[in-house]
Amino acid sequence: MLIDGKLVAERVKGELGARLVALREAHPAVVPGLAIVLVGHHPPSEIYVKKKLDACRKVGIRATLHRFPSDVDQPTLHGQVAMLNADPAVHAILVQLPLPLHLDTKATIDRVDPDKDVDGLHPLNIGRLHSGRAGFIPCTPLGVMRLLAEHSVELKGRHAVVLGRSAIVGRPMSWLLLRAHATVTTCHRHTADTASFARTADVLVTAVGKPGLVTRDWVKPGAVVVDVGINRLPDGRVVGDCDPEVREVARLVTPVPGGVGPMTVAMMLSNVVTAAERFARRAIAG
Ligand code: GUN
Repeated sequence: MLIDGKLVAERVKGELGARLVALREAHPAVVPGLAIVLVGHHPPSEIYVKKKLDACRKVGIRATLHRFPSDVDQPTLHGQVAMLNADPAVHAILVQLPLPLHLDTKATIDRVDPDKDVDGLHPLNIGRLHSGRAGFIPCTPLGVMRLLAEHSVELKGRHAVVLGRSAIVGRPMSWLLLRAHATVTTCHRHTADTASFARTADVLVTAVGKPGLVTRDWVKPGAVVVDVGINRLPDGRVVGDCDPEVREVARLVTPVPGGVGPMTVAMMLSNVVTAAERFARRAIAG
C-alpha cells in the first residue's frame, strides 16, 4: 500500500489552522514570521523555497525571502542572520542549504538564534534532540515520524535501518527512531554490504539520492519503506531512491513525489508556529 503524504500533510495543516486561531486570540500582536535566507541560484533550492513561501502564505504565516548573490561574503551573511535574530517580528529563520562552497555552513548555522532555528540544525537543538529535551527537530525526519505514527507503524523493538547520515535527514532520523525504541542501524557510503542490513529492516528509510538504489531484493517482505530521495532523471521525471518493484514486497511504501516531500513542508510550518507560540509565551513571562 502507498502512504499518501499529501493527505497527512493536509491533516497537519488543518491542525495548524486551529493553533493559529488560538495564538491570534491569545496574542493578537504575534503573527508568526519566517525569514528564509537564500544564497545563489541552486535550481532545487529555488523550487523548495518557493514551495515553503507559498505554503506559509496559504496558512497565514508572514514569510520573507532574503536573497544574496552566490559571491556574498561570510560577514555579510552573518550580518543578515544577526539582523533577523534581533527582529521581534521574525520568529523563525531558515538558511536554505546547500550554501556555495566558499561559505562556512556550520559557522552560519551557529549564528542562528536556537529559538528561531526551525531547521533544528543548530548544535543546541541537536544536543536537545540527543538528550531528549524539547527543541526544534529537522522537518523531514519529523515528517517521516508523523507518517509512521499515522499508519500505526510499530517501532518499539523493531529493526530500523537508515540509509544515509546527513545532518539534515539521516542522523536526526536515526536518533528519532532510537528515541522511539527501535533498534537502529545507520548505513552510509563506507558500509560494507548495505543490502545485507537493509534486508533485515522492519522499517527501511532511504535518504541517499540515488535512483534505483533500493531494489526489491533489498527489502524484507512486509517491511515498511520510507523513500526520502528526491532525484531528477534526465527525462525530467522526479523519482526517489527505490525501484518501483519495491512496492510488490513492502507492506507500506512512500511514493516520490507525494510521500515525504509534502510532509517536510507541513512540519516546517508546524515548527514556525511552535517558534511563534514559544515567543508569545516568553513575552508574557517577561
Ligand atoms: N535543503 C534541502 N532541504 C532543506 C531543508 O529542509 N532545510 C534547509 N535549510 N535546506 C534544505
